[in-house]
Amino acid sequence: MTQTQPPNRDDLDPIEIASRDEIAALQFQRLTWSLRHAYDNVAHYRALCDDKGVTPDDLASLDDLTKFPFTFKDDLRKNYPFDWFAVPMEQVVRVHASSGTTGKPTVVGYTQRDIDTWADLMARSIRASGGRRHDKVQVVYGYGLFTGGLGAHYGAERLGCTVIPMSGGQTQKQVQIIQDFKPDIIMVTPSYMLAILDEMERQGIAPRDTSLRVGIFGAEPWTQNMREELETRTGIDAVDIYGLSEVIGPGVANECIETKDGPHLWEDHFYPEIIDPVTNEVLPEGQIGELVLTSLTKEAMPIIRYRTRDLTRLMPGTARSMRRIAKITGRSDDMLIIRGVNVFPSQIEELLLRDGRLSPHYQLELRREGRLDHLTVLGELREGPDEEDRKVAIARDLEHHIKSYIGITTKVRIGSPGKVERSLGKAKRVIDLRPTD
Ligand code: DLL
Repeated sequence: MTQTQPPNRDDLDPIEIASRDEIAALQFQRLTWSLRHAYDNVAHYRALCDDKGVTPDDLASLDDLTKFPFTFKDDLRKNYPFDWFAVPMEQVVRVHASSGTTGKPTVVGYTQRDIDTWADLMARSIRASGGRRHDKVQVVYGYGLFTGGLGAHYGAERLGCTVIPMSGGQTQKQVQIIQDFKPDIIMVTPSYMLAILDEMERQGIAPRDTSLRVGIFGAEPWTQNMREELETRTGIDAVDIYGLSEVIGPGVANECIETKDGPHLWEDHFYPEIIDPVTNEVLPEGQIGELVLTSLTKEAMPIIRYRTRDLTRLMPGTARSMRRIAKITGRSDDMLIIRGVNVFPSQIEELLLRDGRLSPHYQLELRREGRLDHLTVLGELREGPDEEDRKVAIARDLEHHIKSYIGITTKVRIGSPGKVERSLGKAKRVIDLRPTD
């Protein structure tokens, strides 16, 4: 159903289609450098290694990486703002910060070469998504300390595209610009794309009739059902982009348009491991666990065995030789435990989207009653008739499906179209109303 041709293989970076042996050899060479660079120049990482009794000389093969300590978000916080930098401040040409909701943000820094690497990887990601020179790209990820906007911007320019730097918000304006500037590609969170589509429909514009060909969606979890919703409503190809500030920003991994089978991880710059988050043991390829990433080339802020909290599994390459990660549908810190059952918001999303009477917008409210947590699902009708009886009947159906597929009892409240709060960037799926004690 794709209307966009995949890139010509001659246009790919040779390493994207190199043999596994070539990739592993490059990784080992770069890992040796990166470990040494972190150890010699980041005091806190050297202390972690000293505590464990390892030095970079203990790395004789890629597998030896397991001997080295993990890095947690908290390690970066303790070094706020700049103490994790491994180069003198005058070589740092840019800083960004992660969107932590509480406390201090995590600051990340880039040398000029890091910015170049990032632009190359974002160009590679946009190309894998079906983008090419001269495409017009509307960048709707936020500009500023968030890595999304500027990361996408530099990558699109690097590929030779025309950038429309909209940033997030101003939904009516986003629609006007799509209508007037006729972009080929939009880069935005999937939840905000839904808000843009609603605005188009409100203005009587058919989302299938725009110039858009491809949407490069990421920065938050989204399910296969959400992909179907977005593709059916718009007729565009919806492609997944993954990344995180601590590791570089967007462009750590990206799906290929010809397969759409999970993001290919750009393994020439990042080394992936999957671990059991409880035992910390490295899991074999194919098993689900926490993604741990090591930067192989970053100068300003090398990061070794970073605990992303993202849950996924590694799979062999398909459209490229580099391995894929399964679409990330949850983070360990997003997991809700409802009377002993582990639930991710994406599981609710999957069920909600199966009901054509419901819009794809939703939020989850978490409350404590007595000693037990209760979950309320807030959804809304896709369209009329907007009658109370109908809403109650749809809510009962969803409660039933959640009980039979996930095994938890929830309360579902269905409102009129437009009732659920819209996101302008990353969606806030869970409203935690439990007392903080
Ligand atoms: O969200 C970077 C980014 C910008 C990625 C634009 C893609 C597009 P942070 O704010 O540091 O950086 O948040 C990183 O967001 O650890 C995941 O939990 C989540 N995330 C990012 N991309 C995806 C995705 C940016 N495609 C955190 N699917 C990560 C699921 C994603 N979760």
